[in-house]
Amino acid sequence: MTRITTRIAHLRAAGVSFVVELRAPLPRVLHWGEDLGELTGDGLAALGLTADAAALNNSLDEPRQFTVWPTEADGWSGTPAHQGHRGGTATTPRITMTGAEERPGELVIDLHDADAGLDIVLTYRLDPSGVLGVRTGLSCPYGAPGAAPYDLAATTALLPLPGRAQEILDFTGKWCRERSPQRGRLAFAGHVREVRRGKPGLDAPHLLTVGVPGFGFRTGEVWALHVGWSGNQRWLAERLPEGAGVHGGVLGGGELLAPGEIRLAPGDRYTSPECFFAWSGEGLDGLAARFHTMLRARPRHPSTPRPLTLNTWEAVYFDHRPEQLLALADAAAEVGVERLVLDDGWFLGRRDDTAGLGDWTVDPQVWPDGLGPLADRVHAHGMQFGLWVEPEMVNLDSRMAREHPEWILGPSAGVGPSSRHQYVVNVAREDVFGYLLERLDALVTEYGIDYLKWDHNRELHEAVRRGARGTDRPGVHAQTEGLYRLMDSLRSRHPALEIESCSSGGGRVDLGVLDRTDRVWASDCNDPVERQSIQRWTGQLLPPELVGAHVGGPRSHTTGRITDDSFRLITALFGHAGIEDDVTARTPAQRAVLTRWAALYKEVRGLLHSGRVVRADLDDEATQLHGVVAPDAGAALYCWVRTETSVPGQSGRVRLPGLAPGRPYRVRIRTEAGLPDLHQVTGPLWCTAALDGWVPMPGAVLTGAGLPMPTLNPGQALLIEVAAQTSAN
Ligand code: DGJ
Repeated sequence: MTRITTRIAHLRAAGVSFVVELRAPLPRVLHWGEDLGELTGDGLAALGLTADAAALNNSLDEPRQFTVWPTEADGWSGTPAHQGHRGGTATTPRITMTGAEERPGELVIDLHDADAGLDIVLTYRLDPSGVLGVRTGLSCPYGAPGAAPYDLAATTALLPLPGRAQEILDFTGKWCRERSPQRGRLAFAGHVREVRRGKPGLDAPHLLTVGVPGFGFRTGEVWALHVGWSGNQRWLAERLPEGAGVHGGVLGGGELLAPGEIRLAPGDRYTSPECFFAWSGEGLDGLAARFHTMLRARPRHPSTPRPLTLNTWEAVYFDHRPEQLLALADAAAEVGVERLVLDDGWFLGRRDDTAGLGDWTVDPQVWPDGLGPLADRVHAHGMQFGLWVEPEMVNLDSRMAREHPEWILGPSAGVGPSSRHQYVVNVAREDVFGYLLERLDALVTEYGIDYLKWDHNRELHEAVRRGARGTDRPGVHAQTEGLYRLMDSLRSRHPALEIESCSSGGGRVDLGVLDRTDRVWASDCNDPVERQSIQRWTGQLLPPELVGAHVGGPRSHTTGRITDDSFRLITALFGHAGIEDDVTARTPAQRAVLTRWAALYKEVRGLLHSGRVVRADLDDEATQLHGVVAPDAGAALYCWVRTETSVPGQSGRVRLPGLAPGRPYRVRIRTEAGLPDLHQVTGPLWCTAALDGWVPMPGAVLTGAGLPMPTLNPGQALLIEVAAQTSAN
């Protein structure tokens, strides 16, 4: 048991304060948000004194409190911190603090529920980026002989929101339109997102953000939550008329558990996913910067230049012909590709999406000499070799399903409808886990695979682990842990192996899977009009180097829209760039453009993959100005985009965010990816000059006054480079 060493714990980092009063019987949250500075003596006393709201008419006879573990016992009528029962009893928790310890950047509080005999460990970790991670662990240390296990229904990490936080932004989507923003007023009620897809999904909440109405990319106060988990989830923002203690509402998240999924017998322990909470006084860009900083500081964050990738999916789909793929590897190397990924279609019986999943051996009918010749050719070109896999899935038309029908995750009553002709295998089973690990390990070893594109193309329905009839048990939690274990085990055998999280595009983008993967596939949609939005909002959580962004062919395979090369190329630059196209079918002139673009990507990726992502607040929804600014504000690359036409003929002066107003800069237009088609006759003057070379420009003009932008035709983009003036230039 830990000792309570302070009365008020104050965690501070990067302009954020989190203050908890460690009082008995239960600590309460005094503040989460803007840094309150070094608080001592009087300051702390004042914070304590102002932590009680009024006792209201027709309400509790004492001021309501917002404790670290809100339940009905505190008079809390909102979502409780946990719910459960022991054989139908112990449903009203009585929580008391049994210990607390403050360590640098961390506060651990031990709680006990006397009613249920539960021990709870609540851990707050304030990252140097200012992101606050909250995790809980629940266990039953003892139990009366013959007592029922404790059935945990839910546990929710809850943090307070001030009353002024009344506008909500979160995300939804579908295949090829992931992370579509939805924004509105947070009414008195719960805004609850329950994710029951067995993965975050194409419509994942992604980052639940509540702010002072009117917040934008660059301004406004915002509070946000991300649930770092790849299984079922629950996210909420809630406002009660009586408030939350002295606060206005709450933000909360956790795992969505099925009834009976977690049953704690003596000695068992449940650890919740980590929920990440962030505050920013500088709008959505400030929030993004905190998450990017946190992710970039991880020991396993990719540290090598992100290799320009060619993925074979839209180039050949299932039509694998070794000679053609060898030629594709040669052509890819010629344009400057650094990693070639062989997508779906290489394994036993996989001629289309109706068969083969589960049989993770190379199909000798298609690849009579195995994948060795292709892997060798790719490596001989100095490129990395990547392979597509979908380990958690099975087609009924496969050896695996025929030999091991018991491996399929689903009820004893029989499986429900297939989805993309496939089912899920129960990776929590030791035999399934062992088979998959052996297969993946063998492939990686035999072919020197550098990278796996790890796909997951269906939702989990009726994901129960089969027992004898009547003993089926909910399985999403175990499945998610099984996935993590499989990835962790493979990576411990192959520490240099990189993994991409793909799920019909961007259906599994979360900080749980990103603990063991190196990038996400943002979407199957390579149409740059759609991609601008998908990348903008994926980037609200993830820095560009973690987000796969590929150039497809002129006609998008998923929308049918035809776009100019330059728009596609410029759009793909702002991520971990790649190509999703049959380069062998392109003309020499087209390949020359790709080659110039590849060189440009290699030149600018250092900046794009380490700098601060900035997005301007513009009145015209049809335009975007986004960019990446070096940490010292000495260089930047901006993208001026028009996705559709709009009424205003002129952009007016547009301010370039993120630069230092007091510094002298110079500006030029980068033309390697091509120039946009214009909806104007000429100018603006600065732009015409910047096409010929560097144009000096004070920081105050760039950041304060702003630059008039050219009026582009729809589906066009312009690349603007900014560099600080030095004595050397
Ligand atoms: C879905 C992915 O999102 C695609 O990129 C591709 O890998 C296919 N699966 C292959 O089946």
